[in-house]
Amino acid sequence: MKKRILLLLCLILITGCYQHNPKVEKDNYTNINYYKEEYQDRYLQYQTKHPELSLTDIITRVNIGLDQPYYTNTKETPFLNQTHILSNKYLYMPETYIPHNLEKIDPTYTNGTKLLVKEAKENFEQLARDAKNQGYTIRAISAYRSYDYQTILYNKYVDQDGKEKADTYSARPGYSEHQTGLVVDVDNGITTYTKFETTKEFNWMQENAHKYGFILRYPNGKEEITGYTYESWHYRYVGKKIAEKIQTQNITFDEYYIRYLEKK
Ligand code: DAL
Ligand code: ZN
Repeated sequence: MKKRILLLLCLILITGCYQHNPKVEKDNYTNINYYKEEYQDRYLQYQTKHPELSLTDIITRVNIGLDQPYYTNTKETPFLNQTHILSNKYLYMPETYIPHNLEKIDPTYTNGTKLLVKEAKENFEQLARDAKNQGYTIRAISAYRSYDYQTILYNKYVDQDGKEKADTYSARPGYSEHQTGLVVDVDNGITTYTKFETTKEFNWMQENAHKYGFILRYPNGKEEITGYTYESWHYRYVGKKIAEKIQTQNITFDEYYIRYLEKK
């Protein structure tokens, strides 16, 4: 008798739950905490174009802005002067933005004067020091770049290759992560940086960069999400906690930002 009552109670409970949470498509979306009601139509349109993607991927990508062409609906990026600042083809920094606390990288690990934000600089130097002690050479070949310097670089590439091609590998002024002061391009002092992937130093970075708070920002196979061709030499400081999570989850910083940072 007791068992029957229990069974009945369970049934009532289960039926009740279903009535409160009907399995319609929209409710599936709303369970995800970075879902944005105002993007509902965009999610559905993107899902029609990309039926292979999971709900979380659809929402993440639309929130990044990827359902629209690069450099449309652009906004000024929040979190200036914080290590979790994001710059990509939808989020830019003001022309006048120069990060606080830029410091010179120890010349042992670079040529000439290269600047990074203090926290990134200290972690980069520690990384390069530890690498050196283990028989690897990691040198910074480019670090902080001002808006004006990025303008010169980008225009040079446009003259050389045309705008469409240049946009696949060079950021427009205001959109370059180098302007955050949290990025280093590296080489091993022998092999040209564009071939960094072929070096033993690259493998060392794959194993160790995250322990110092750095991530490979434009990975192979993630071009559609990052908007840039693979760059085995470009490392972004995000801090150890975020770097570990990005490494474990094998996602880009663009995706991490939407899922864990944007609403903070
Ligand atoms: N090469 C990277 C995308 C930059 O120009 O910032
Ligand atoms: Zn770079």
